[in-house]
Amino acid sequence: MLEPVGALPVIIEEEVMVGGNCGVYEGTVVKRRAVLGTGTVLNRSTPVYDVVTGAVHSASADEPLVIPENAVVVAGSRAVAQGRGKEWNLSLYTPVIVKYRDAKTDVKVQLEDLLR
Ligand SMILES: CC(C)(COP(=O)(O)OP(=O)(O)OC[C@H]1O[C@@H](n2cnc3c(N)ncnc32)[C@H](O)[C@@H]1OP(=O)(O)O)[C@@H](O)C(=O)NCCC(=O)NCCS
Repeated sequence: MLEPVGALPVIIEEEVMVGGNCGVYEGTVVKRRAVLGTGTVLNRSTPVYDVVTGAVHSASADEPLVIPENAVVVAGSRAVAQGRGKEWNLSLYTPVIVKYRDAKTDVKVQLEDLLR
């Protein structure tokens, strides 16, 4: 599919592993050796919660969403805190950095490489 004129490029740096059913949109930058677990979707409207460092990564008017080097991002959810969403116990999809790449992750990434 063609990108709209003026769309920011998506940048996926070296040695990033992109799992199945992932989507990376709207000028997101995924830094070196990051891992996107199955079903992770990134765009400018989805802040990424980093439970390791406590940072919340998000895009701004001038800056892209940046996934840090070695981050392992998985598809998560967060409870809606107000309004009908709270009343109805809804959760919304959100990407979560659960860890930074370690030896265990490396083994899984190598296995994926071998299977492809
Ligand atoms: C991300 C991935 C590589 C696992 O990495 P890992 O470093 O081995 O992760 P760990 O097993 O140490 O898990 C760390 C934590 O994240 C959770 N987690 C790991 N992968 C997850 C995922 N994909 N979705 C949700 N949670 C996940 C684990 O349950 C664990 O939680 P806990 O600490 O509360 O127990 C793997 O889950 C994955 O998504 N692989 C991609 C497979 C795929 O899509 N293949 C098709 C390619 S076309």
